[in-house]
Amino acid sequence: MANIVELRPGAVAVIVVDNPPVNALKQAVRAGLKDAFTRARDDASIHAIVLTAAGRTFMAGADITEFDKPPQPPGLIEVFDLMEASKKPIVAALHGTPLGGGLEVALTCHYRVAAPATRLGLPEIKLGILPGAGGTQRLPRLIGVDKALPMILSGDPISAQEALKNGLVDEIVEGDVTEGAIAFARRVLAEKRPLTRARDMEDKLKPYRDNPKLYDEVVAKSAKRTRGLAAPAAAIECVRWSFELPFDEAERRVREEFQKLRDGDQSKAQRHIFFAEREAAKVPDLPAGTKPREIKRAAVIGAGTMGGGISMCFANAGIPVTIVETSREALDRGLATVKRNYENTVKRGGLTPDEMERRLKLMTGTTDVDAIREADIVVEAVFEEMELKKQVFGKLDKLAQPNAVLATNTSYLNVNEIAKATARPPSVLGMHFFSPANVMRLLEIVRGAETAPDVLATAIAVGRKIGKVPAVVGVTHGFVGNRMLHARGIEAERMLLEGALPQDVDGALTEFGFPMGPFAMGDLAGLDVGWRVRKASGAKAEIADALVEAGRHGQKTGKGFYKYEGGSRSPIPDPDVEKLIVEASVRHGIKRRNLDRKEIFERLIFPLINEGARILDEGIAMRPGDIDVIWVYGYGWPVWTGGPMHYADRVGLPYIRDRLAEIAARAKNPKLEPAPLLAKLADGGGTFSSFKKAA
Ligand code: CAA
Ligand code: NAI
Repeated sequence: MANIVELRPGAVAVIVVDNPPVNALKQAVRAGLKDAFTRARDDASIHAIVLTAAGRTFMAGADITEFDKPPQPPGLIEVFDLMEASKKPIVAALHGTPLGGGLEVALTCHYRVAAPATRLGLPEIKLGILPGAGGTQRLPRLIGVDKALPMILSGDPISAQEALKNGLVDEIVEGDVTEGAIAFARRVLAEKRPLTRARDMEDKLKPYRDNPKLYDEVVAKSAKRTRGLAAPAAAIECVRWSFELPFDEAERRVREEFQKLRDGDQSKAQRHIFFAEREAAKVPDLPAGTKPREIKRAAVIGAGTMGGGISMCFANAGIPVTIVETSREALDRGLATVKRNYENTVKRGGLTPDEMERRLKLMTGTTDVDAIREADIVVEAVFEEMELKKQVFGKLDKLAQPNAVLATNTSYLNVNEIAKATARPPSVLGMHFFSPANVMRLLEIVRGAETAPDVLATAIAVGRKIGKVPAVVGVTHGFVGNRMLHARGIEAERMLLEGALPQDVDGALTEFGFPMGPFAMGDLAGLDVGWRVRKASGAKAEIADALVEAGRHGQKTGKGFYKYEGGSRSPIPDPDVEKLIVEASVRHGIKRRNLDRKEIFERLIFPLINEGARILDEGIAMRPGDIDVIWVYGYGWPVWTGGPMHYADRVGLPYIRDRLAEIAARAKNPKLEPAPLLAKLADGGGTFSSFKKAA
């Protein structure tokens, strides 16, 4: 086996971990560390030890792929015991992203020095677990309970500068961090500095030992929305044990909590999303070595809701962007909204005024479409009308430089048809952002029939650069997300007529963990939008149509499926709406009955899963995990249940098949019949994840 952990002897010996790409602490690394620390201990010529890592980062945590396998010794704790028993100072040389178990290794060293760009964190909470190897005990001792708990609960990393300030690192070194750590170790030896072991530090715990109530204030300040999640509640208890219990007893209990969480459904789901997110942007048939085109300047067509947000994404990533509108008035309105959004972020402390100015300077508004000549990528975000989009793409074709990528942000329309409005369909694809575009992480990248490999690769690379989670999908009405969303809506109105109220339907989804249900979402987006589409196509939605026709357009008019008071965005159930719904039931001769949460939930979610199965079968999504990523990052599906396809596997496909058959029969709607792939997998005892492997 390659030298994963190397011990370079010397008075200050250097232990180098080299396990690309992120130096995850897999079994061979742990075994290598144990061996290296043992040899360093036994070698009398060694007086101090520097622990460093090769490549792009210090250890970025445990190897997450090992979580599903039986534990392989040695565990990290065994390595830590050896480190803490060391009579020779151990200095961690940190760079990149020391995260999770990697940061816990560093916490167990006697000293830590870091390169200036290092980001340090305990992201376990994002995987549905908690820091199980000392993080909940050593971090509060080093930096204080009030600073440790927010790091553990948010999972977000802090900068080296902040770490220096709060005592997590002892020094920031410019230049080679390993050399800096060696120099630091020499000084420790020369000055005969005592060995500082985090486990022995008591000062920062004392106030909480004396007055445990102080902790309640810290919890109240740090705890974010944790509804439905097991890990944050457990982490809060574990940190409490740092001042309530002796170190070893606390650690023993923490390990129990860690194991419970690791083996639970929530963490499995979150780990699934971690890997699915990374896989979703991988396109197996993209020729090896396909290089993305260079993107130095972007243009966005349309400064409406989406165009403004998309422009912010480019500016936030430091990419200059030209925004094209039809009139000065529309442009000014769009740019004013962008500015207001930034100002709100500044007010909340999320951005400095200087940074805001820098971003605004990267944006140029114009009514002259000629300005797109300079752009390497153009994203169109005009009204959702095919003829208009074709007209815009015809113009882009004439003006854009030959190498430019031409993207449409259409929600539903056929990207191939739009591409045909140009003489260069290989340069065209969909880049479907989600509202608000500067906030939502998902980017559905719609690959057209003729999209060139390097154009696709460029869209993926740009997506990453602007901080999105790209998922590559094929052309179909509404792509993956909106097509499934539509399937979720099929039964929603029928349930209103049968006996449910908007708050019952929405409640079934918020109880599961969605931020909102379909009716609150309709109010947010504006009920008039769907109404206009229905009018144009002759379709009907009795209740929604009646609301719009009564002037209830949603939040923008203060009334929709709910009422909104005093400018608040909180939906309040409205007796007028109940009356309207009950009257509709009477008109249809339906005797209203009580629909329980389970029935409502299944009638919303199983059709959505069913549509996901069709999408998979048609090859519109490459993998079930891609669908999960789309729903978690674009539609608020609760991450701890892993997305619709992962969740379906957990519920069991035979149950979903049978329920769908019943729902379809009751509704006399063949669209709700179990999809062939779902039925086939259910009949054969398969799962969606097994489908991925067979593909
Ligand atoms: N275990 C296994 N594989 C990992 C991994 C880990 N901890 N971290 C990253 N990888 C893999 C990724 O899956 C990816 O693989 P592919 O190339 O095959 O897709 C590859 O390493 C590179 O990762 P990214 O694409 O994410 O690279 P990046 O440069 O964008 O980000 C990173 C690097 C910030 C380290 C990011 O990968 C990350 O956040 N990793 C997870 C860190 C984490 O959660 N650590 C805590 C683990 S739990 C723990 O430590 C608790 C314990 O038991 C002690
Ligand atoms: P919007 O109505 O807020 O903005 C559209 C803007 O395009 C208007 O400001 C209009 O003046 C401008 N415009 C029209 N024709 C133009 C032209 N020829 N040149 C330059 N500008 C022109 O619409 P919104 O909501 O931003 O939607 C834009 C596109 O994004 C649509 O295709 C929509 O389906 C899609 N989309 C919308 C989402 C949403 O939640 N609003 C989500 C994802 C995609």
